[in-house]
Amino acid sequence: MAKRIVILGSTGSIGENALSVVRHLEGRLQVTGLVASRRTGRLAEQAREFGSSWVYTAWEEGRAPLARSLPAACRSLGGDEELLAAVAGDDVDMVLCAIVGTAGLAPVLAAIRAGKDIALASKEILVMAGELVMAEARRCGVRILPVDSEHCAVFQCLEGQARPARVLLTASGGPFRARKDLDLATVTPAMALAHPTWNMGAKVSIDSATLMNKGLEMIEARWLFDLAPEQIETVVHPQSIVHSMVEFADGSILAQMGHPDMRLPIQYCLTYPERQAGQVRRMDFRDVFTLHFEPPDHGRFPALRLAREALQAGGSAPCVFNAANEVAVARFLAGHLSFPGIWAAVEETLARTPPACPGTLAEILAAERAARELAAGVADRLGRPSKGG
Ligand SMILES: NC(=O)c1ccc[n+]([C@@H]2O[C@H](COP(=O)([O-])OP(=O)(O)OC[C@H]3O[C@@H](n4cnc5c(N)ncnc54)[C@H](OP(=O)(O)O)[C@@H]3O)[C@@H](O)[C@H]2O)c1
Repeated sequence: MAKRIVILGSTGSIGENALSVVRHLEGRLQVTGLVASRRTGRLAEQAREFGSSWVYTAWEEGRAPLARSLPAACRSLGGDEELLAAVAGDDVDMVLCAIVGTAGLAPVLAAIRAGKDIALASKEILVMAGELVMAEARRCGVRILPVDSEHCAVFQCLEGQARPARVLLTASGGPFRARKDLDLATVTPAMALAHPTWNMGAKVSIDSATLMNKGLEMIEARWLFDLAPEQIETVVHPQSIVHSMVEFADGSILAQMGHPDMRLPIQYCLTYPERQAGQVRRMDFRDVFTLHFEPPDHGRFPALRLAREALQAGGSAPCVFNAANEVAVARFLAGHLSFPGIWAAVEETLARTPPACPGTLAEILAAERAARELAAGVADRLGRPSKGG
């Protein structure tokens, strides 16, 4: 019987790759529901192609036109409460969360509480609420399968193994790694969006350029694999062939490799625990190639230090780190904050937030809102003066 899935963020980069996997696996996966925001035209096309039972747009003004463009058998959900009920429905086996940011947190928790396995691409969810999400997953006996290529690699390396001594997350280093002479204050959004190896959405591309993405991934790894901060390290590996590595007590290291193509980890998660024939390009060892590794440049890119500090501080600090970064990235993309301003805004927001330990979803969301407000004020002050000003 086909595995019945919901895709949160179906119109984005991960969402489209997931639908490519569904297409490729012909009948092994069935799409029950699709969720997106602004790209409602594309959402309707997807609903038609994959025969989903329902769709939902978080964009209120888009709901009526979307409903009119759907086939008769597809329902358009009217609000967040209906979405929470739909992801928990009997016709759902697994929920793939690929919504950028934290809007996927409530539906993911609802799905976990209804016993659905989760394929998790949205790293922000574990950064913001890792303790709560993992505790609920344990309580409800559901699997959290990591779609992020690094965590999917670690997950695969750990299958059937003892606990790791160390996890080594690989990082491409972003587009400015080798450009040591470049003044990072002159970096524009267009420059930062041009990722050397991965083709991704705008937010995650900027996070890769700042290395904030790797910082978020360190925090994500802490929760997914129950690691102490000292067990998580980052290694720059510009080719993005080794997706991450795990070292065991005896010093042995396992790595997972493949061409950088998100359809590989997405398919792994959607078909887990089986492995199906894939559609991605194979590694050809008749070619001569070398794999390059180097330590991160913490002086030029302070993101990993900030993430480690947030991880060590615990409580609401990772949630504040994530919220401040989201605000700062949006300001950078709008041309109102410099590239180094992203780190500065995150560092100042973290420093000015009093320690707190939010436990419930409501407390976590309140901490996030407060961090966003504080970060917006910080970013305003750090922002460039407007042209006329
Ligand atoms: N791209 C990658 O290779 C990659 C790799 C690893 C992890 N991730 C993680 O996966 C997540 C998605 O990344 P992406 O690159 O696919 O992002 P993306 O291309 O920007 O797509 C984001 C998706 O989220 C939807 N969305 C945004 N706000 C929403 C809301 N409030 N409610 C419902 N849907 C909403 C968007 O809908 P509309 O487009 O219709 O507005 C879109 O479908 C991120 O957390 C990222 O860190 C991505």
